[in-house]
Formats: sequence, structure tokens, C-alpha cells
Amino acid sequence: MTPHLIITTDNLTRRFGETVAVDGLTLAIEAGEVFGILGHNGAGKTTTVRLLNGVLGVDAGSARVFGLDPTREGVAVRRRTGVLTETPALDEKLTAHENLHIYAQFYDVPAAEIAPRARQLLRDFELDERAAEPVGGYSKGMKQRLALARTLIHQPELIFLDEPTGGLDPVATRRVHDLIRRLSHDGQHTVVLCTHNLAEAQKLCSRVAVMEQGRAVALGTPAELARSLWKGVRLEIELEAATAATALDALKRHAQARQVTWDAPADEPTGRASLWVSEPAALPDLLAALVHAGGRVYRFAPQEPTLEDVYFALHEEVVP
Ligand SMILES: Nc1ncnc2c1ncn2[C@@H]1O[C@H](COP(=O)(O)OP(=O)(O)OP(=O)(O)O)[C@@H](O)[C@H]1O
Ligand SMILES: [Mg+2]
Repeated sequence: MTPHLIITTDNLTRRFGETVAVDGLTLAIEAGEVFGILGHNGAGKTTTVRLLNGVLGVDAGSARVFGLDPTREGVAVRRRTGVLTETPALDEKLTAHENLHIYAQFYDVPAAEIAPRARQLLRDFELDERAAEPVGGYSKGMKQRLALARTLIHQPELIFLDEPTGGLDPVATRRVHDLIRRLSHDGQHTVVLCTHNLAEAQKLCSRVAVMEQGRAVALGTPAELARSLWKGVRLEIELEAATAATALDALKRHAQARQVTWDAPADEPTGRASLWVSEPAALPDLLAALVHAGGRVYRFAPQEPTLEDVYFALHEEVVP
């Protein structure tokens, strides 16, 4: 069965003066995905979200969201999307409840449903105890959680989260991650997640686009990206410290080994070497070289590449 496409873009382009913020972006996002957009500052993530919601006009190419053209049918698109912006504006004089009510009315949520939905969301984000206080007195993390609750009050089927965990503590971050998982598991929601947090993208996203200067330079599942773009392997080795010197020399001399580091805590019988191996086929040979050099090996552990490895490889910050 052909998957149901919620978002498609074809050569989507937007300029600001000389800057091409989004440069010929072609994407297809399926219903039910948690789709990650990764990229450095200024890569074009937020501009993409704004184009898809019809908040900005398109210079060239096109986009369809629910089959609608966001430039001409932005109101219809925005009724069905929830957008957590980078710097959400809340009314600081009003309470959390009041903020949610106003937003719900703005989105024509049926009057009888507003209070129960607001109560539930405030409970979900653990804001219920302070829901009657003016938001001006909230901490940054509380404001961010309230902004997220507001994004969901009209029960949008497509949710854009632009850096949703920026400024949140680890507990609040986990709560937001759980919420994104819950949303994605019920099959009723599609999430587009802009993030700098590679671990977050790896954990949550079904697919990821890496943007650079307005272009998608890589696209795939986190595992596909890691495999296709990163042929090398990170290797961790635990060695008897007394035998390490000659063994490390052998490692460093090996043609496939890069960036060998060694960490041996004082008073411990073993230490840990860490390195990049440019070709996985070299692993048996490396182990043999270690043993041959007198190294006593307690652990020899190639690591699955992570999105972070891929990301830095794409940006050429490690030499594979
Ligand atoms: N309203 C605007 N006016 C002028 N230039 C803009 C505007 N909005 C974005 N840009 C430029 O477009 C490029 C892409 O910006 P965008 O905000 O989309 O990046 P981003 O990937 O969201 O970055 P960040 O990670 O910092 O949020 C940048 O060079 C930015 O300066
Ligand atoms: Mg941004």
C-alpha cells in the first residue's frame, strides 16, 4: 500500500535578500512519522516550518500539506497543525488556564471541551498545581511546557515542534520525549521535529533530514543514515594496563586505525583505548595485531555508529 503523504515539497525555495534560506528542498513525509529536521544554526529548519504553515511565502517550487497549498490555503492548513515555535509568546499576565482558553477559542474548540482538555494537558505537563498563577512568574521550563500544551489544545493531527526541549531539565525533557512517543504511537498524529539534539533525533525519529544551507544533504532512518554515510567503526578496547604500551604502538601503526586515545585510571589493572577504524573488515586483523604485540585484551567492542558520528562525518569534523 502506498503510504499516505501528509507533507510533500518539490524544489521548495525561499530567499531573504542574498540568503537562500531554503534551497530546492524536496521532501515527502508520511502520516504517522516523527520526522526529524537536523542542522546547524541557520540551516533553514525554522524557515521550512514557516513555509509549510503558510506563514512565509514561497519564492520557487511548491509545498502541499494535507494536499493543500500552504501559501494560498494557509488558514485551512493551520487549523489542522499545531506549531511550537522557537520562542513561543505566552500572555504573561494571564494564568496557564487562561492562556489555554484563549488559544482554544481562537481555534474554535467547542466551548464545553475547552476546560476538560486544558485540565488534562496541564496535568500531562505537571503544571496543574500552578495553573491559576500568572505565567509571568513561571520558570523557563514551565513556560515551555505550557507552550507545548497550547500547541496541542485544538488536537492538531500534524505537529511541528521547533526545538521543543531547549531549556528543559532532564526530567522535563524525558516527559516531552514520552509525549512525542505517545503522539506517534496512536497512529493519529504526524510530528515534524526540528532539533540540534542528535540523541533526541536518534531516539524519536522514524526518519531524519539533515539540512545544510537550505538543502537536505542526507535523508533516511537514523540507522540508514548511520550505515550509509559512515563506513567506519568506533572501537573500544579494554586492555591490561601493564601490557598496553606495546599493544597501543601496534594499534597506532595499523593502517586502518585513526585517533587512538588511551585512558587508564591510576591504580586500576586495565585501561580503555578508543579509536576509529576506517574499514570494519580490518577488525579481526587489529585484534590479532594487539595480541601479537603482547596486549592482554579484556574487551574488544565495535560500537554502532550514532547519528552524532554521522553528523560530524557530514560536517567533516572527524576523519573517517
Ligand atoms: N525573516 C528573516 N529575514 C532575513 N533572514 C532570515 C529570516 N528568517 C531566516 N533568515 C535567514 O535564513 C537562514 C535560515 O534561517 P532559519 O531560521 O530557517 O535557520 P534554522 O535552521 O532554524 O537555525 P537555528 O538552528 O538557529 O534555529 C539564516 O541565514 C537566517 O538568517
Ligand atoms: Mg530555527
